[in-house]
Amino acid sequence: MLELDEIDVGYGAVQVIWDVSLDVAEGETVALLGANGAGKTTVLKTICGPLTPMDGDVRFRGESIGGLQQDEVVPEGIAHVPEGREIFHDSSVEENLTLGAYANRDGMAERRREVYDIFPRLEERTGQRAGTLSGGEQQMLAIGRGLMSDPDLLLLDEASLGLAPVLVDDVFDAIERINDEGTTVLIVEQDVHNALRVADRGYVLESGRVSLSGSAEELAEDERVAASYLGG
Ligand SMILES: Nc1ncnc2c1ncn2[C@@H]1O[C@H](COP(=O)(O)OP(=O)(O)O)[C@@H](O)[C@H]1O
Ligand SMILES: [Mg+2]
Repeated sequence: MLELDEIDVGYGAVQVIWDVSLDVAEGETVALLGANGAGKTTVLKTICGPLTPMDGDVRFRGESIGGLQQDEVVPEGIAHVPEGREIFHDSSVEENLTLGAYANRDGMAERRREVYDIFPRLEERTGQRAGTLSGGEQQMLAIGRGLMSDPDLLLLDEASLGLAPVLVDDVFDAIERINDEGTTVLIVEQDVHNALRVADRGYVLESGRVSLSGSAEELAEDERVAASYLGG
């Protein structure tokens, strides 16, 4: 479904991603792991904009999407839940969800029903101003808003960052459920343990390069992953 083919990416002339290849097959959950500053967010921004690879190619269902911007990839079937949530604080929960459906309003009520089934806490707060939600609820809303465009591929950037442990579990359970219901998922995470719990496969990014890849089981047992990320 998604293929990154030896991409190089930078900010201006400063290159931060080297030769990264990665693929995600339809139906999978794939984790892109790595420490702070490794280049994970940069890779996601190359898939869905605003960044364009300096070299290499990004393909979605076989078509090159390397130069497309966020508003152009949403109709293709890609939703991006950015780091830091970026919901509309002055709008209600329901208004935020409606805004997520801007590119695809058919079946909006049905999709809102699905979002509320996955995140019952949001349904209890439909009219509440989003800025007054807790951090965990805001993250649920950001994911729910992404789902409102009915994506085939959902990109999640650090969905669990800064959440209380009980909410981290809820968010990862929701990711599993979203994948079970047919959406392909690429998650960017520093929480390696939980990411590998829900993922089929993973890639480890170190200083802008893929240093390891494999099944979730292989990565969870890998000494280098344990030493550097799991505190083993
Ligand atoms: N807007 C930017 N301008 C210049 N450099 C950036 C910008 N955003 C990120 N970087 C640099 O790119 C590298 C990778 O950052 P990032 O992709 O955000 O990493 P991660 O998401 O893994 O924490 C870092 O060295 C960071 O300082
Ligand atoms: Mg990041």
